[in-house]
Amino acid sequence: EGQWVLMATGRTPTNIAVIKYWGKRDEALILPINDSISEISLLGGRFQSCLREIRKRARDFEDKEKGVKIKKEDWDKLHVHIASYNNFPTAAGLASSAAGLACFVFTLGKLMNVKEDYGELSSIARQGSGSACRSIYGGFVKWCMGEKDDGSDSIAVQLADETHWNDLVIIIAVVSSKQKETSSTSGMRDSVETSPLLQYRAQTVVPGRVLKMEEAIKNRDFESFAKLTCADSNQFHAVCLDTSPPIFYMNDTSHRIISLVEKWNHSEGTPQVAYTFDAGPNAVLIAQNRKTAAHFLQKLLYYFPPQDNDLSSYLVGDKSILGD
Ligand code: PMV
Repeated sequence: EGQWVLMATGRTPTNIAVIKYWGKRDEALILPINDSISEISLLGGRFQSCLREIRKRARDFEDKEKGVKIKKEDWDKLHVHIASYNNFPTAAGLASSAAGLACFVFTLGKLMNVKEDYGELSSIARQGSGSACRSIYGGFVKWCMGEKDDGSDSIAVQLADETHWNDLVIIIAVVSSKQKETSSTSGMRDSVETSPLLQYRAQTVVPGRVLKMEEAIKNRDFESFAKLTCADSNQFHAVCLDTSPPIFYMNDTSHRIISLVEKWNHSEGTPQVAYTFDAGPNAVLIAQNRKTAAHFLQKLLYYFPPQDNDLSSYLVGDKSILGD
């Protein structure tokens, strides 16, 4: 038979959790013990589970021009070549795997003529890595933990699209590009087994916090958004410390960055910048607008002078924020 190649391309964002996911109630299906909310800023596991789920949903495909006809059961016999690249430095260790898995699910689904909606695709991406389910959409996204044992209601929904609050500016301070020492999978497992604070967090704190965060996002209420974001990052790291053996994701530099933000926000009277840290020491700083971002960046560079004099190499995206 003649040879032909079918191509599908996709692009997915990485995501930063402002209300963190930490702890699974089902390890095989990757079902969380609480809801979480993320925000995307930039474009940018377990592939086998995702591949299996997409294949299950593959449909017949026909391209008359190319003379290609594929029955749904035949997708299994075809070779799939995957080329993927990240336009965000992977050294930063920030959710690049989430973006990669979400992109894999989305693009393979497109190739195999899968007709499922985004909610269903998010639940497939979830089975690759939990946080990946939030990368199926742009903007602000909530991963609803769901109640069912089969995970069918543990899906991501978009709270607001990427145009809703586009004054926000995200600065990522790469404190260390070293590989994290404790993977999120084993860290979460240890926390679920040993941290009393985690149970309290999931049952008593996060449900109310998620509602307040949804309100803050809807109203573009930066003060509330910043307070909730910082508090949630701090509680997540407190849970890590409450785990046995304790997990330290942040280092001294991370702590100094927190102090800088706290002091600055306090002196200004209202929060200007929010910080959040995932399973590593790098800071994700969210400023209310370009003006506060530029002002904050000046401070950051003053207290943490880059080793390299070329500042532009530290910025991804819009470099004009530094001015002339
Ligand atoms: O999806 P995982 O297994 O990489 O876990 C992500 C955990 C955090 O990044 C710390 C929190 C989150 O909600 O993304």
